[in-house]
Amino acid sequence: MENVIYYFTGTGNSLMVARMLAQKLDGETELRPVVRELDKESIVVDAKQTVGFIFPVYGGQAPWPMMAAAEKMKIPKGVYLYAIGTCNERGGTCTDLFNCFLNKHGYALSYAKKLDMPGNCLPSNEQENAQRLELAKIWIDVMAKNINDRFVGTVEDFGSPDNNTEAVRAKYAQQPFGPWRVNGEACTSCGLCAKLCPMENIALREGVPQFADRCAYCFACFHFCPQKAIYKDYPHFGSADGRPRYHHPEVTWKDIAAQRKGR
Ligand SMILES: Cc1cc2nc3c(=O)[nH]c(=O)nc-3n(C[C@H](O)[C@H](O)[C@H](O)COP(=O)(O)O)c2cc1C
Repeated sequence: MENVIYYFTGTGNSLMVARMLAQKLDGETELRPVVRELDKESIVVDAKQTVGFIFPVYGGQAPWPMMAAAEKMKIPKGVYLYAIGTCNERGGTCTDLFNCFLNKHGYALSYAKKLDMPGNCLPSNEQENAQRLELAKIWIDVMAKNINDRFVGTVEDFGSPDNNTEAVRAKYAQQPFGPWRVNGEACTSCGLCAKLCPMENIALREGVPQFADRCAYCFACFHFCPQKAIYKDYPHFGSADGRPRYHHPEVTWKDIAAQRKGR
């Protein structure tokens, strides 16, 4: 395989960027969900030309499953590495931090880009979402050209004390990000949350969704629940009722679930 893109997604933005970019890269490109790599002791990367990491930005950093997979990768020398952090206008130093993280494991990005997409945590409105999705198409052309030209951009070496997988995972396990709650009156026990959770972190017990300890904080359960029954107490994240839910218009819950190991 010439190119491989490792991706993680909760509401489809990163998946769509990966799909659209794959169509524009020279040579064949395989999309691999990082979730399926997590149980492996080491990940032998067989790309001959380019390896991409495409992920949503959480609190200015990559999601922990992306980091957990990347730190186990064995990437051949000479392969061109790039990262794209999809975000809601607050991407911060996400790609620099990811590069710094890779540096610790002996790799360096040649190219990286933060890409504004609809927000799935702090909300962005419908007009902003439509504009960002249009603008993203232009950026995907630019990024594909840069990658095909093997452009080497400046990626800063920007360190952070919590720039390791476990620290990032712990950060989100704390308030205000957790825990998930279920509105028992609204929940119909349909089980969609359990079927789609990319981390296979949700199971129904006596009809009630229960959350284990592998949450990646992707918000897929929150956004795809047909009854809006899953929520967090933290006001920014929305109560069980008012807050609009979002997922990329061309992505279904089955696309999110397709990242899982069993599929
Ligand atoms: C827990 C959480 C934290 C987030 N933190 C940030 C952030 O720090 N900066 C930002 O710009 N967007 C942030 N976002 C928004 C997402 O990065 C953005 O909407 C992304 O495109 C979602 O990608 P996906 O659809 O592939 O899951 C956050 C989203 C979640 C769920």
